Amino acid sequence: MRAAVLQHAGQPVTIEAVRLDPPQAGEVLVRIQASGVCHSDLHVRDGEWPRPGPFVIGHEGAGVVEALGPGVDPATTGLTVGQAVALSWYAPCGHCPACRAGREWLCSDSGSSRHRMSDGSTRLHRLDGAELYPYCGLGTLAEATVVPASAAIPMPAGAPPEVAALIGCCVSTGVGAVLKTARVPAGASVVVIGLGGVGLSVVMGAVLAGAATIVAVDRIPAKLARARELGAMATVLAGTDAAATDAQIRDLTGGGPDFVFEAIGLAATIEQAIGLLPPGGTAVLVGMTPFGVRAAFEVFPFVDGSRSILGSNYGFAVAALDFPRYAQLYLDGRLPIDRLIERRIGLDDVEAAFDRLRAGDGLRNVVTF
Ligand code: APR
Ligand code: ZN
Repeated sequence: MRAAVLQHAGQPVTIEAVRLDPPQAGEVLVRIQASGVCHSDLHVRDGEWPRPGPFVIGHEGAGVVEALGPGVDPATTGLTVGQAVALSWYAPCGHCPACRAGREWLCSDSGSSRHRMSDGSTRLHRLDGAELYPYCGLGTLAEATVVPASAAIPMPAGAPPEVAALIGCCVSTGVGAVLKTARVPAGASVVVIGLGGVGLSVVMGAVLAGAATIVAVDRIPAKLARARELGAMATVLAGTDAAATDAQIRDLTGGGPDFVFEAIGLAATIEQAIGLLPPGGTAVLVGMTPFGVRAAFEVFPFVDGSRSILGSNYGFAVAALDFPRYAQLYLDGRLPIDRLIERRIGLDDVEAAFDRLRAGDGLRNVVTF
């Protein structure tokens, strides 16, 4: 099959013919239909997150089950040949303390975080036999993948594969940050900094939560326009004068918002998010920085004003419960996930999509197969 291979961080991804082994016990073979190009793929591509590769990259994907490995029970998993699935990039082990507490996004023994199958092996090889590894246990920028059954989540009938793919990463990350991590109450004021696939999903989540004020912030005007279409009531074009940007945001939120979501992963905007909080306010950090990045804030007013900072990984997703819910909200017209998609591209266009992502140019690019 064809796959996008990252041999060395910092060098272009190449499209190669690779070998995919059949599913083993507890695994399924999924024919990929759509895979988004997410900023997390770019972090790895650019070497900002050193990982032990070489990889087939991609972790925001969806497709159709093509084969079940031994022991995968259709009755308990909902997985049958031909079933449409969205893929989770954090397959829970099911038995660690976090999994047993229902907090699978904190699973301490997920093969996904090691970019391997749960037993440490891989189903991906070069034609000469050399091992390749599935990024986040998925490797969705390829025509097919073999994943643990717990990573393949059945989708309701009618959910398009592009929509299911985005549910697998940016939608769950952004919507879940609002509904699950922060539990934003109806009537709250919300600021979202950074309007990529993740930040625009935060905007959609804030709409679902019934936020009274949603202010969307980005440095690219076209992103602001899309945020308004998705329900942001006001927008701020982030300029070079940070104090002026902050003043505009404070004006629009009666002195400062109840919740600020940072959806970029930059020290400057993380510090900005914390600095915007009024007493009692909460900053929710969703964007992932390169390794080693630190942020600073003045402690006395933070404590004196009983402010909070929350870290939110994967929107606290419990994939088997949340993915079908997000898909149903899409089908009911309440979560317009398709509006995040700017263009459908081919596998050969992944590097061009990375260039656009680096420049902040346009919305989600989705590879369709
Ligand atoms: N001020 C305001 N907006 C900015 C700034 C800035 N200084 N720098 C970048 N942005 C905007 C970009 O214009 C873009 O719209 O932030 C947005 C980032 O979006 P994407 O690059 O599409 O990233 P996305 O895939 O949404 O992921 C965001 O979440 O999961 C993590 O690893 C992921 O760190 C990444 C973050
Ligand atoms: Zn992602």
